[in-house]
Amino acid sequence: MLELAHITKTYNGSGGETVYALNDVSLRCERGSFVVIVGSNGSGKSTLMNIIAGSDTPDTGNITVGGKKLLSMPEHRRAATIGRVFQNPFQGTIADMTVMENLALAYCCGRGFTFKPALTRQLREEIRERVAGIGIGLEDRLTQSMSSLSGGQRQALTMLMATWRKPRLLLLDEHTAALDPRSADLVLNLTGRIVAERGLTVLMVTHSMQHAVLFGERLIMMHHGQIVYDIRDGEKRRARPSELIARFEELRRADRMDESVAGLLRAQYH
Ligand SMILES: Nc1ncnc2c1ncn2[C@@H]1O[C@H](COP(=O)(O)OP(=O)(O)OP(=O)(O)O)[C@@H](O)[C@H]1O
Ligand SMILES: [Mg+2]
Repeated sequence: MLELAHITKTYNGSGGETVYALNDVSLRCERGSFVVIVGSNGSGKSTLMNIIAGSDTPDTGNITVGGKKLLSMPEHRRAATIGRVFQNPFQGTIADMTVMENLALAYCCGRGFTFKPALTRQLREEIRERVAGIGIGLEDRLTQSMSSLSGGQRQALTMLMATWRKPRLLLLDEHTAALDPRSADLVLNLTGRIVAERGLTVLMVTHSMQHAVLFGERLIMMHHGQIVYDIRDGEKRRARPSELIARFEELRRADRMDESVAGLLRAQYH
């Protein structure tokens, strides 16, 4: 369904050096798969999401979704088939519009409308029903401004909006990291429910090893712009947070060794 072939993305570092945000990444995800992505800070997770969504372009490589080439498609056209939820709960919704108006916009997305649709009785009912499905009483607050809601409530609605039109692909970049534990659980459980009900294909970035083992049937670990660990099915089900943390430690140890060797070589030759 989603196929990335030899994607490389470099940036200029602060000292003028080349930073490989993604270094020859290839990845194939089947339709309906829920892939969790973990990795240390700066390992390339968000760059991967940005490149798939079209908010960034790779230096080299190809991406296809359902056989269609993605890279020639501008970001706004990809938005019709790719749903996205960011870390910041205020990014996915418009603060000074009502809850109902925000959801009406989600209904528009991908239908080629460029302005607000008429809020027909039928659409209002559909919105009420779907919001009630979240199960936290937001259906009684549809006429209130989005800014009156908490971060968790907004992120729950953003999840609903991002999946309203059944996207071919859902990208979640640490979408519960800014929430308190109770709200994070609520949004994650909602995520799991929507994904299962609608059979979505998902890439979910998280720094929580608990969430990484609980969700999805495949887990990918990134390090220095590369996929260094990729487990699925039984192996994924058996994975424990402590094992993942131990793998991170191993990678850090190897980095420290590399730095020490580089330091020694510098000392020897200068
Ligand atoms: N616009 C940019 N300009 C320069 N360097 C960038 C830019 N975006 C990302 N990078 C660099 O690319 C690398 C990968 O960054 P990225 O944001 O993808 O990491 P990440 O895995 O999402 O990290 P985090 O867990 O902190 O969110 C980092 O070294 C980062 O500094
Ligand atoms: Mg990131």
